[in-house]
Amino acid sequence: MTTAPLISAEALTHRYADRVVLELPRWQVDTGGHTLVLGPSGSGKSTLLSILAGLLSPTSGKVLVDGFDITGASQRERDAWRARKVGFVMQRLHLISALTVEQNLALAQTLAGVERDTARIRDTLAKLGVAGKAGQRPHELSVGEAQRVAIARAVLHRPALLLADEPTSALDDASCDAALALLEAAAAESGATLIVATHDQRIKSRFGEPLLLGGAA
Ligand SMILES: Nc1ncnc2c1ncn2[C@@H]1O[C@H](COP(=O)(O)OP(=O)(O)OP(=O)(O)O)[C@@H](O)[C@H]1O
Ligand SMILES: [Mg+2]
Repeated sequence: MTTAPLISAEALTHRYADRVVLELPRWQVDTGGHTLVLGPSGSGKSTLLSILAGLLSPTSGKVLVDGFDITGASQRERDAWRARKVGFVMQRLHLISALTVEQNLALAQTLAGVERDTARIRDTLAKLGVAGKAGQRPHELSVGEAQRVAIARAVLHRPALLLADEPTSALDDASCDAALALLEAAAAESGATLIVATHDQRIKSRFGEPLLLGGAA
């Protein structure tokens, strides 16, 4: 028996004004698969992840994620679906500056409709080496610490689709390994499909055949 792919994209294109920045004739990712999206700056990696998260409507084409037709759904349907099913470490982290790290993470659990679980928050922060930052506000964090908090926020609600856009760009080698290990462990825990967009050569060896955009080698 073959299982349906988690992601199935057909004839996907995206244009900003009249400039085509993404063209993907056909792309599938198996449920539970881990895929790296590689490409130079400006090749459309963040655009693709935003489409997969239902944040951006592509100019044309069809994308199904876990049977959900993102391209056919309304913005409201996509927002409700994303809150439950998607974890997204965005390139711009969007932590809420008025809240502490722990409050940011607790809010993420509430918005995803899962029970507030402080033990899980603290455990996740500890695995990323930022347990001591729970009471800090985002502006009191280094860029790498904020990146790790954003990773924690994306995995807490056990999403079916875990998207990470340059999640290791500000991390040293040890933190890079810890961040990847947590993304992989979180994906394994919930059977999630993991998509990582990067130019970080350090993480290439952890993945199989990548999706290459914009002529990446
Ligand atoms: N909102 C927008 N309006 C117009 N052009 C945009 C917009 N967002 C992105 N672009 C353009 O689309 C192209 C692809 O952008 P995207 O952010 O997807 O690239 P990327 O591969 O993620 O790059 P990077 O590695 O620098 O993060 C770029 O040339 C960018 O300038
Ligand atoms: Mg990008």
